[in-house]
Amino acid sequence: MHKAHSHGKPPGDAPGAIHQARAYELLSALAFTGSRRRIFGRLVTLAKVSAGDEVLDVGCGPGYLTSLAAQAAPDGRAVGVDVSEPMVEEARRKRAGANCSFLVGKAEALDLPDASFDVVLSSLAIHHIPEDARAKAFAEMFRVLRPGGRVLIADFQPPKGLLARHLVGATAGETMRDNPVERIAPMLGDAAFRVGPTARASWFLHCVRADKPL
Ligand SMILES: C[S@@+](CC[C@H](N)C(=O)[O-])C[C@H]1O[C@@H](n2cnc3c(N)ncnc32)[C@H](O)[C@@H]1O
Repeated sequence: MHKAHSHGKPPGDAPGAIHQARAYELLSALAFTGSRRRIFGRLVTLAKVSAGDEVLDVGCGPGYLTSLAAQAAPDGRAVGVDVSEPMVEEARRKRAGANCSFLVGKAEALDLPDASFDVVLSSLAIHHIPEDARAKAFAEMFRVLRPGGRVLIADFQPPKGLLARHLVGATAGETMRDNPVERIAPMLGDAAFRVGPTARASWFLHCVRADKPL
């Protein structure tokens, strides 16, 4: 059984795809209650994106994080990849630029060359990838990174309190309520990454940093 978080009933073979791109963009802007730039900016900082870096954002959605990464890498580039065509169209419409581009593709089968990026980012996307495809997705991130490259995975940290958990379950579903973020670090280790410290970018964003050894 492919367990992945989904919004609505996406067609095709991507169970975690979000196709309501404009609604997601609006919800995302509202849900961060004015802190979206600060929180996503923290992800870019945690990943130590620098001016010449080539950055890949996996499960980029409408490309907000991708565009911040592109701004932090003016002499490099940022590429967002998402399995949902409407999401990629929205990202292109709102955020494509000279060093910021978007591709349709699956995290677990990236159509990108080996060792072609310095940094891989992924925010709020891992719980959308079917559980049995997550190991392959981390292996793909490892493959496309250059030796010495960094990965930063940020995903939804469910609250601990019973009432808050109930609310998350009722509004966002059980995949988010029960999201096993503690499995991200060991899975990165299994993909041959050297796993670094975890961090919080906000109360609900669990972040794991790791390097591809030289
Ligand atoms: C909750 S959104 C997060 C978007 C963005 N990263 C953000 O932080 O706002 C999850 C995204 O993952 C995408 N997605 C789901 N399964 C995927 C897969 N197997 N490969 C690539 N993207 C996927 C969805 O289409 C959706 O745009």
